[in-house]
Formats: sequence, structure tokens, C-alpha cells
Amino acid sequence: MKPILDVLNAVKPSRRPMWIMRQAGRYLPEYREVRAQAGSFLKLCYDPKLACEVTLQPLRRFDFDAAILFSDILVVPHAMGLGLDFKEGEGPQLETVESLSDVELLSDGLDSDHFERVWETVGLVKASLTPQVALIGFCGAPWTVASYMIEGGSSKREKALSVARQNPEWFQVLIQRLVETSITYLLGQIKAGAETIQIFDSWAGDVPEGSLQRVVIDPISAIIKGVRAVYPGFPVIVFARGVGAAHGLIAQATGANAVGLEENVSAAGVLKTLPAHVAVQGNLSNQLLLGDEAAMVDATRRILESVPAEQHIFNLGHGIMQQTPVSAVERLVKAVRDFG
Ligand code: CP3
Repeated sequence: MKPILDVLNAVKPSRRPMWIMRQAGRYLPEYREVRAQAGSFLKLCYDPKLACEVTLQPLRRFDFDAAILFSDILVVPHAMGLGLDFKEGEGPQLETVESLSDVELLSDGLDSDHFERVWETVGLVKASLTPQVALIGFCGAPWTVASYMIEGGSSKREKALSVARQNPEWFQVLIQRLVETSITYLLGQIKAGAETIQIFDSWAGDVPEGSLQRVVIDPISAIIKGVRAVYPGFPVIVFARGVGAAHGLIAQATGANAVGLEENVSAAGVLKTLPAHVAVQGNLSNQLLLGDEAAMVDATRRILESVPAEQHIFNLGHGIMQQTPVSAVERLVKAVRDFG
């Protein structure tokens, strides 16, 4: 079967599965070409044929076990009615919400055709994959997406954290709206062919321990529950980046099949804290792909030796960087495959 799905279902895989976060992206010259053809990042996200093409590009070069849908976590607030722009070299610029009336004005995402276009991409990708490769769908977790909706872009999340701390009524309503819309968005991806989903909580590490349950765990659990109400037992990967010692708690509380790990935690150490049958994903530093290849290969082997293939999906600790040489990815794939 598909090695990544085997690991998620606690079945012995035929080999250790691997994929790379942001595997379709600017480090690939063929991605930059299609991106230029599309005219902008967002146009690329909403063009099913081109989005399918860039989703497949990394699979043509590298022996990966999964394709991840090419889209962005900010597609959800965009479909809910907030203006969105990606300025060259500046990251996202999103219209903000600041009150209960702002939150009440948000739509359920279905009055635009944005979700439809993404679902169409999923269907096109699914029809093009070889039988061993799994298709990963995704969404952002409510906290991370809410942080962009409150801040308006990439920042230090001081404003979002202060809103979360004060916990006004509108913050909880916003989180609830994101839970509902994310469930709709994911169910559409699964219907179109996604075989597992990853929930990206990129800024979970900023949330104080005392608020983790309310801000991170409860919303993710509600999304997984909503998905599994329609697709019982559906496999889910939760990437609560930066929570360190709390990955075990998050796995237990959400019912995730695997937890994605940031680079600076011990995969073996986290694995010991997980419920039986839950796997780890990660966690090579993305910086190591920029430097000496021997050091990268050593670090890769250390991760592979530390956790068994049955409970591990090899990945980076965060998305691959734009400056990464393609040859470093080739070397990395060889190191994982040579290990056996
Ligand atoms: O992993 C994949 O290959 C699938 C595609 C994917 C993208 N974004 C494409 C993208 C996925 C899964 C994401 C998730 C995403 N988007 C996250 C969570 C993961 C993480 O990195 O923590 C977040 C926080 C975002 C929001 C976002 N999108 C930011 C902050 C930026 C700007 C930063 C940057 O790298 O430029 C983006 C843009 C973005 N998303 C690009 C890609 C390929 C680059 C845009 C371009 O091509 O110009």
C-alpha cells in the first residue's frame, strides 16, 4: 500500500515514508516558471491546472511518498471574505478582524468559488498520482489562521496573543467560525481525493501553556471530530509547531495519527510520550540543506536511527527554504533511501 498511510494506520510500511513541507515552491526553477506564468501566487492557488502542475513537480524529481496539495492556509480567510494579497518578498497582507461585528460579517466560505477551485485541484492531482504516492490535503489550525486575521500579516503575533489572553467574546466566535469553515474545506478536499490531512498550527509555540487547551487543542480536536463524523477514522497529522514537551498531550487530546515535530526536539523523546500507534513526523532542520552535505547526511541518519520506520514519516522541522539547492534535496532523499 502507500507507506505514509500505512504508518498513519499503524501498519508496517514497505519503506520509510518521506515528504517535505513546502516541497512545491520557489527552490524549484520549474515552480518559478509556472508561478510567473500564473502572474501571482494567489492566481496560481486558484488555477486548478497550474496548481496541479506545481503539486506534481517535486514528485517528478524526487522519490517522495506523498504529494501535498498546492494551496495556502490563508485561502480560508480569503474565502470567508477578507481581502488577501501576497506582495513580492513581503509575505501575506490580509484584511483584519477587530470586533464581533467584523467576525459576524465573515461568510461560510461557500459564496465564492475559491474552495471549489482548490477541490478541483485535488481531483486533478489525485487522477495523476502513481499508486504508491499518497495525497495530503491541509488547512491551517484556527489559532494560526486567526493570528493572521488579527495581525493582517506575518508579525510577532503580539496583538493576536493579547486578544487571545483577554479572550473577548469575538475571539472565541472567530475560532468557532474557523473550526466550522475548516471542516467544510477539509471535507471537500477528502471528497475530491485527499487521503490524509495535515493541520498546520505554525504558531502554536507562542501560546502560553495555560491557554494551550482553549486556543490550540480544543479547536483542532473539534475539526478532527467534524471530519471523522463523516469519514470515520480518517488519518490526520497535527503539526503544532514549537510546543516541545506538549506534543504528547496534543496527540492524546486530539486523536491525531501523527504529530509533526519542529527541529529542536528529540523525535525519540517525543515518541515515548505518545499514545501507542501514534507516529512522529519530522524533523531535520531546514537550515542543514543550505550547508555542508556530510553534516546534513549525518543529522538525517541520527534521526532515522532514533525512531523506527513503522512510527516515522521523515520530513523537515519546517518548510524548505527558497535558497535550498536542488542537489541538497537529491542528497537528502538518497540518504533516507540508503538507510533502508
Ligand atoms: O507544502 C507545500 O508544498 C504545499 C503548499 C503550501 C504553501 N503554504 C505554499 C506557499 C502550504 C502547506 C502552505 C502552508 C502555510 N502558508 C503555512 C503553514 C506552514 C508554515 O510554513 O508554517 C503558513 C504560515 C502560510 C502562510 C504563508 N504563505 C506565508 C507566511 C507566506 C509567505 C512566506 C514565504 O515563504 O514567502 C506564504 C506564501 C507561500 N505559501 C509560498 C508558497 C510556495 C511562497 C509564495 C510565492 O511563490 O511567492
